[in-house]
Amino acid sequence: MATLRPSVACPARPTVKTEALHAVNMESIVLFGPPGAGKGTQAQRIMQSTGLPQVSTGDMLRASVAAGTETGMKAKKFMDAGQLVPDDVIIALIRDRIQDADASNGVMFDGFPRTIPQAEALAGITNVSHVIAIEVPDEKIVERICGRYTCGNCGAVYHDTFNPTKTEGTCNSCGSSDFKRRADDNADTVMSRLSAYHEQTSPLADWYDSKGIFHRIDGDRAIDEISTDILIALE
Ligand code: AP5
Repeated sequence: MATLRPSVACPARPTVKTEALHAVNMESIVLFGPPGAGKGTQAQRIMQSTGLPQVSTGDMLRASVAAGTETGMKAKKFMDAGQLVPDDVIIALIRDRIQDADASNGVMFDGFPRTIPQAEALAGITNVSHVIAIEVPDEKIVERICGRYTCGNCGAVYHDTFNPTKTEGTCNSCGSSDFKRRADDNADTVMSRLSAYHEQTSPLADWYDSKGIFHRIDGDRAIDEISTDILIALE
């Protein structure tokens, strides 16, 4: 796969020791891949087939920033810079989220784990049955991210060119006309996010591959084709 290396590399973050969280009897799925690979897009579709709730650490962090919580205040500067939020903050978020009733039969993690310490912590709380890696070359990522917009009401994900709403200005899913673009969806921050992915997250591929649960999916195709292949991998 072609990789477009960022011109400025992010400094490596020191390893954070993380304790395994309390054990919960459930089996979960991880959606893995670079920023803009289509994890959120596919999560919304797979959720309908599997019944597993989507747990997106990015969405949770953005909600925390919007609410002005302590977690949000800790996370904002990292998100604005396109860097990973420290592991202890992320793991605390997940620890709280998996207490919710809808998580009792497993969840679909979107954008988590992103470091080996996060994966080790996750292993202490849930069985991960499948890690679905959506692979997209770096040179396609900037175009995807810079054209993204989401429904402010239901969170449906769109793209100016690749996946527009059927009726201009109206969400396909809920009919809302309130759309948002993310503050970190700009060409400069994307390069930092890609750098963080290659340096800190991509090593997880070997970690999960060694466990025999890692499935590589070509994400540089039509959205429907990718969904079909993911569902086959989950069978
Ligand atoms: P997060 O919100 O997780 O962002 P991300 O990983 O950068 O992923 P994205 O949401 O940008 O992309 P996606 O793969 O979901 O793609 P999408 O489906 O939207 O994280 C944001 C920040 O929070 C991070 O930078 C970090 O600071 C922090 N953070 C979050 N989790 C963390 C963690 N675990 N540890 C530490 N820090 C964490 O699609 C993108 C666009 O492409 C859309 O417009 C879509 O319509 C379009 N598209 C989708 N599929 C296709 C296709 N097949 N063909 C053409 N276009 C497509």
